[in-house]
Amino acid sequence: MSSNFNLDSYLQERQQEVEIALDQSIEVIYPEKIYESMRYSLMAGGKRLRPILCLATCELLGGTTAIAMPTACALEMIHTMSLIHDDLPCMDNDDFRRGKPTNHKVYGEDIAVLAGDALLAYAFEMVTKTPEVPAPRVLQVVTKLAQAVGAAGLVGGQVVDLESEGKPDVTEATLTFIHTHKTGALLEASVLSGAILAGAEPEDLARLARYAQNIGLAFQIVDDILDITATQEQLGKTAGKDLQAQKATYPSLWGLEASRHKAESLVISAQNEVLPWGEKGAALRAIAGYITSRTH
Ligand code: IPE
Ligand code: IPE
Ligand code: MG
Ligand code: MG
Ligand code: MG
Repeated sequence: MSSNFNLDSYLQERQQEVEIALDQSIEVIYPEKIYESMRYSLMAGGKRLRPILCLATCELLGGTTAIAMPTACALEMIHTMSLIHDDLPCMDNDDFRRGKPTNHKVYGEDIAVLAGDALLAYAFEMVTKTPEVPAPRVLQVVTKLAQAVGAAGLVGGQVVDLESEGKPDVTEATLTFIHTHKTGALLEASVLSGAILAGAEPEDLARLARYAQNIGLAFQIVDDILDITATQEQLGKTAGKDLQAQKATYPSLWGLEASRHKAESLVISAQNEVLPWGEKGAALRAIAGYITSRTH
C-alpha cells in the first residue's frame, strides 16, 4: 500500500513528547546520586522506539496519547535499565552508550546496578499513574510488562546470549531464542500494551503480536549488522564488539547479505499484518520500515 506518511516528522514529534514526559517523570531529591544516575542514562537520548510503538498502537485503536504516555515512559525506563545492566563489566563490558560514557563508568558499578533496579521498579509505579483506563486493563499491562522483562522474556534471552559467547556451534534455534527474548519480548510488550490500554479485541491483539514479533526479531538482526557495518559515531556505542566477544549473531551464522534479507522479509511480514487497518496503519507500517533502514 502506498502512503505519503511522513515518518521523519512523525518520529520527531513523538520523540519530543516522550522526552518531555520522561524529563518530568523523575526529579532529583535526596539521595541525589541515585536520581542523577537514573536520569543520566534515561535522558541521554536514544530513538525512543518502544514508547513510540506504544503510543502509535494505542492511537491506531482509537486511544489517546494521554492514556498511553505513562506506559510509554515505563517501557523506556525498563529498556534503559536493560542497557545499563547490559553494559556492566560482568555482562558486555561496554564503555559508551547513547554517545556518552556508560553509567558505571560515571557512577561506579554499585550505583549502576542500583540505578537499573530503581528504574525497573519505578516503571511499574509509572503504569499505575495511567489516567481514565479501567483498572483491569492497567493490571493486564503490568502483567505483560512483568512477563516481558523477566526470566520468560528479556532476562532469559540475556542469559542464553551470555552462555552462547565463544561457542562455535550455536544453532539457529538458539540464536532465534536469544533475539526474540532479549529484544523481541519488550518490543512486543510495547505494541501490545498500547493496544490493551485502547481496549483491543483479541483478534487485534493476535495480529499486533505477529507484527511485533516480526519487527522484534528484525530489530536485533539489524543491531547485529550495524555492530559490524556502522561506526561508533553513528551508533553512540563501541562498534565491532560482537566479533570481539564472540557473540552468537545472525551475521556470524549466516553472513551480512543473508542477514539483511532475513530482516527485510520479516519487516514485510510485519507490514502485511497491519494492512487490514488501511491508511490508519500507516504509522506502524512506516515504523516497521524504519527498523531496516535505520543507520543507528
Ligand atoms: C539497543 O536498543 C539494545 C537492543 C535491544 C538492540 P536501541 O537500539 O533501541 O537503543 P536506543 O534506545 O536507541 O539507545
Ligand atoms: C541488548 O543486546 C539486549 C538488551 C539490552 C536487553 P546487545 O548487547 O546486542 O545490545 P547493544 O548492542 O549493547 O546495544
Ligand atoms: Mg548484550
Ligand atoms: Mg551489549
Ligand atoms: Mg548489539
